Amino acid sequence: MNSIKVYLNGEFIPLTEAKVSVMDRGFLFGDSIYEVIPAYSGRLFRLQHHLHRLENSLHAIHMENPLSHGEWEELLAILVLQYAGKDQSVYLQVTRGAAPSRDHTIPEGLIPTIFAISTPFPAVDPQIYTRGISAITLDDIRWHYCNIKATTLLPNVLLRQEAKERGAMEAILVRDGLAIEGAASNLFIVDDGQIITPPKSEHLLPGVTRDLVLELAAEADLPYCEMPIKAEQLDSADEIWLTSSTREIMPVTHLDDRPINNGKPGELWQKIFNHFQAYKDELR
Ligand SMILES: Cc1ncc(COP(=O)(O)O)c(C=O)c1O
Repeated sequence: MNSIKVYLNGEFIPLTEAKVSVMDRGFLFGDSIYEVIPAYSGRLFRLQHHLHRLENSLHAIHMENPLSHGEWEELLAILVLQYAGKDQSVYLQVTRGAAPSRDHTIPEGLIPTIFAISTPFPAVDPQIYTRGISAITLDDIRWHYCNIKATTLLPNVLLRQEAKERGAMEAILVRDGLAIEGAASNLFIVDDGQIITPPKSEHLLPGVTRDLVLELAAEADLPYCEMPIKAEQLDSADEIWLTSSTREIMPVTHLDDRPINNGKPGELWQKIFNHFQAYKDELR
């Protein structure tokens, strides 16, 4: 693995040599944000959308972007070249940097830590597309800034772990009676022929895949709207989907051990999935 290079603070170095200070505020406080960007056949997918969200996350935690968009593009292009022509996902993280002492308040003049790594995509289990996935509903125990892509992910980790221990692949989070999103994915339902996803708010991450699904639905003239989803609507939904950059659009066919759409991926899911694959293929 020593030949794999990662980006750390201006240098491309072997992964095993990439080290950050124990005084880094990302380590001590989770004072840090990140992005995950897929690259298909080595080409970064929806890069500008991810860089835009990165900008918003940094702004929300009162940080300047340490690099220009051009500099981000350049460094990410070098990383994905290591797996030339392959499907991969790029993880990047910006922390507030290391301070001389551990103090909650933000010291002036810190130098941000910038880290990025590319990893080949694991092949999607084809059964996901024929059988769908299982999800459970759980209380949304997260904070009120879920629109920030912050690395402070302990609630998400615990929620996803609970899903796993109960034999499910994802947890759908419910706050104040509303179904919000997955622990690491956005939520869509199909209700009476209409595709519905919750509107953007401080309670959910503005997913890049979510936005693309809405764009594709509009292009294909499929009825859709952004509307709050009541938890009870999950019980009567014709279809449920979860979206993310690494897992694309997953059909949920079992929720809390009950079948959705007779336990099969739905017709509208198949349509949007096909449009999504065609869109990806155009960019290859
Ligand atoms: C909480 C949460 N919501 C939604 C998403 C989906 O976002 P995207 O489609 O940009 O990957 C993610 C992705 O990791 C996530 O962690």
